[in-house]
Amino acid sequence: MLIISIAMDENKGIGYKGALPWHLKEELKLFKANTLHHNLIMGQTTYDGLPRKLNDRHTYVCSLDPQYQIDDPDATVIYDLEAFLKEHEEDDEIYFVCGGASIYKQAYPHCKKAYISFVKGEFKVDTYFDIFQEEDWFIEKEVEYEDFIYKEMVRK
Ligand SMILES: NC(=O)c1ccc[n+]([C@@H]2O[C@H](COP(=O)([O-])OP(=O)(O)OC[C@H]3O[C@@H](n4cnc5c(N)ncnc54)[C@H](OP(=O)(O)O)[C@@H]3O)[C@@H](O)[C@H]2O)c1
Repeated sequence: MLIISIAMDENKGIGYKGALPWHLKEELKLFKANTLHHNLIMGQTTYDGLPRKLNDRHTYVCSLDPQYQIDDPDATVIYDLEAFLKEHEEDDEIYFVCGGASIYKQAYPHCKKAYISFVKGEFKVDTYFDIFQEEDWFIEKEVEYEDFIYKEMVRK
C-alpha cells in the first residue's frame, strides 16, 4: 500500500529553498513514529537535503539520472517511479510517499491513504502540494496539536 506522508500550510505550501518552511518537533516525532520499520519513497532533492539519515527505514530514492547512485545499504535508487508505484500499489507492505513536490504529484493518484499535518498559518514557500483536494478523501482520524492538525485520510 502507498501512503502519502506530508505537512502543508493553509495555502498547500510544503517547501522553501529546498527545505521545510517550518521546524515542528512534534510533527517530526509523528513522522518518525508512523514511518519506523516501513519503506519510504522520496525524490533525490528531498533525500539529499535530509539533515540526517533516517534509521530503521528503507528509503527508495527517485532519480532520472542513470549515473545517480547511493552508497548506503538502507537506500535503493528508483529510476522509473511510475513503474515502481504500479508494482507496489497493491502490496500488503507499506510504502510512505515522502515528497517532495514532484514525487507527491506523480504518486497522488496511486495512494489510497494520506497522513497529512495541516500546519496552522501561512508560510513563505516556493513549493506546493496543489494536486491535493480534501474532497477526494474521508477523514479516519483527526488529532489537534498546538501548531498543526493531523489527519489520517482514506481515498473515497
Ligand atoms: N512539507 C513536506 O511534508 C515535505 C516533504 C518532503 C519534501 N518537501 C519539500 O519539497 C521540496 C523538494 O521538492 P522537489 O519537487 O523540488 O524535489 P523532489 O521531489 O524531492 O525530487 C525531485 C527529483 O526526483 C527525481 N524524479 C522526479 N520524477 C521522477 C521519476 N518519474 N522517476 C525517477 N526519478 C524522478 C528527479 O531527480 P534527478 O534530478 O536526479 O533526475 C527530480 O529532480 C523541498 O523544499 C522539500 O523540503 C516537503
